[in-house]
Amino acid sequence: MPYSEAGKTKFQIDLRRHLRNQNIEDNLVHLICEIAEASKYVINAVRTGDLGVAGTSNLYGEEQLALDVLSDRIIRKRLIHSGVVCNIASEEMDEIFQAQANAAGLYSVAYDPLDGSSLVDVNLAVGTIVSIYVGCDLLQEGRNQVAAMYILYGPRVSLVYSVGNGVHEFTMNHLMEFTLTRENVQMKPAGDIYSPGGLRNKYSEGVEKYVRYLEAKGSKLRYSGGFVPDINQVLMKGKGLFMYPALNGSPNGKLRLLFELNPMAYLVENAGGSATNGKQRILDLKPESLDQRAPIFIGCAEDVAKAMEYVNGG
Ligand code: AHG
Ligand code: MN
Ligand code: MN
Repeated sequence: MPYSEAGKTKFQIDLRRHLRNQNIEDNLVHLICEIAEASKYVINAVRTGDLGVAGTSNLYGEEQLALDVLSDRIIRKRLIHSGVVCNIASEEMDEIFQAQANAAGLYSVAYDPLDGSSLVDVNLAVGTIVSIYVGCDLLQEGRNQVAAMYILYGPRVSLVYSVGNGVHEFTMNHLMEFTLTRENVQMKPAGDIYSPGGLRNKYSEGVEKYVRYLEAKGSKLRYSGGFVPDINQVLMKGKGLFMYPALNGSPNGKLRLLFELNPMAYLVENAGGSATNGKQRILDLKPESLDQRAPIFIGCAEDVAKAMEYVNGG
């Protein structure tokens, strides 16, 4: 029987109504809904916007696309005008932006406005990733997040969120409303897909052995190069693992702790999965800087545990 609330089927439960049933602060409901609204303008930018370079670079020294800068501006403006945000950190900004000084009742947000932006010009799926904390401190462990979400701009536009009480998926309808399509997403203990990031010829011996183990047991390789669709596949199918390991020459891998790993680790853990850097739980890592990167193994708990065994020479 589909989800129902007072006789409504799940397809009629919109995001705001669902959030109100989560027993969270009104300001957090408002904030998540504002981000959902901003994503509608990002969608328009992705679908019609300029695919060229912006002539600037981000805090990682990576060349920014016009879409990165435009998406970042859309979301930042919306956060500032929401009235409930203290500090803002973005993968596309060099430093923290203070929206309001007085932290009482406010939240701080770290986000990647358009993950995978370089895939837009080959028409692959991309996404927005958001991490939310109470107060003003954005350099705290990811376990302190009070909410995380992503919006996936694919053949359909979906929004996935958790406030620590299950993971829930909404799909945008023809009126551009987000309505509930999956509730309390649960990952299986183990699965049969794997999403290997980076360059295989730069994998450590342990990671190389892990990939051979996965191939031997018949796991299927699923990798688009977009973190959001690749994670969404593992999460929604509930089976398998995504990894972007340490590479020879890049001991911290590529993905960013604040903007990509913490929010996805929060979501996957709330769906019964796990996420580590190969040694430690991602959500226990203390960020030392905004631009911190970390290796990641994320997905079904048993698959992640097996990866750790191989990575640590087990
Ligand atoms: P971003 O576009 O925000 O820089 O992120 C791109 C990331 C992520 O989407 C993906 O998992 C990873 O880059 C892919 O990296 P490789 O191309 O090295 O596999
Ligand atoms: Mn990214
Ligand atoms: Mn990005």
